Amino acid sequence: MTTLITGGTGRTGGSLARLLHAADRPFLVASRTGKSSNPDFKAVTFDWFDPSTYENAFKDDIVPPVDRVYLLPPGGLMATLTQSGPFIGFAISKGVKRFVLLTSSQTLRGTPALGEIHQYLIDKGVEYTVLKPTWYMQNFNANFLHSIRKDNEVFSASGEGKVPWVSTEDVAQAAFDALTIEKSPNTEWLVLGPELYSIDHAAELLSSILGRKITHKKNTALEQEEMYKGMGAPPDLSHLLADLERLIKEGKEAALVDQPAEGKYVGKRILEQFFLENRDLWIV
Ligand SMILES: NC(=O)c1ccc[n+]([C@@H]2O[C@H](COP(=O)([O-])OP(=O)(O)OC[C@H]3O[C@@H](n4cnc5c(N)ncnc54)[C@H](OP(=O)(O)O)[C@@H]3O)[C@@H](O)[C@H]2O)c1
Repeated sequence: MTTLITGGTGRTGGSLARLLHAADRPFLVASRTGKSSNPDFKAVTFDWFDPSTYENAFKDDIVPPVDRVYLLPPGGLMATLTQSGPFIGFAISKGVKRFVLLTSSQTLRGTPALGEIHQYLIDKGVEYTVLKPTWYMQNFNANFLHSIRKDNEVFSASGEGKVPWVSTEDVAQAAFDALTIEKSPNTEWLVLGPELYSIDHAAELLSSILGRKITHKKNTALEQEEMYKGMGAPPDLSHLLADLERLIKEGKEAALVDQPAEGKYVGKRILEQFFLENRDLWIV
């Protein structure tokens, strides 16, 4: 059994590839270039928007055949079933039995975009696990990287709200478990980190690690939406991101830690460790 990793050159997919490699489990990285970030990892050309690439993962020379897939649908939080359904259906027709789908903590089954893909897996009767991560620690070295380096600032519409920040490596560990466990969980897991931090508190922690003051600029949801648009994000995504930050402010992300244990996957990595390990990125 081989696992096909869509988004296999990305953060969660790349970590998943390393975990499968370390466990000596066969896997195949899917990427638009047909290359993996690690030359030792086998890769195939795959583009969600080009059905002629779907067959590549199912050719006769892929031994053992692909029978499970990590799904990172294109378009992130705005991913649609119209775009991702054709490949999922194709994979099922080729014998794939198990899927692990990445959505997000506030995505409800059956709701537009990612929630429809979640429902589609259930309707198809395949083995599945839907991973619903909270906000990634790695946002501090992506979305926030430039503003921390340039303005010593993190900006959000999340006010004093707290987040159980999770590492993408722990999201990958959840994916690994769901893909390799003998009996498929056939459920959804909130994927959370072990500690709650507001952005104020995270900025204080980062300040002490960097030895310079990092502040949290508190925007309204509308200001935040405009800011995302100014950074080049499409209007609908800008609106969604600002709205998700409003939910943090209202305590909805912090409340996830009180959900029943069986519906949660709690990672091990903590924010302080992440800041210490990546300290050089924010040094100017
Ligand atoms: N940021 C957060 O706090 C947060 C929280 C919860 C959930 N999420 C979810 O996590 C997702 C990102 O996951 P991630 O961090 O693992 O991904 P990532 O590092 O952003 O990587 C995205 C991957 O998608 C691949 N890709 C892009 N377009 C493609 C296409 N047309 N066909 C095939 N592959 C394509 C890229 O591979 P190639 O370029 O090599 O083809 C890349 O490997 C978000 O989209 C969001 O839905 C994020």
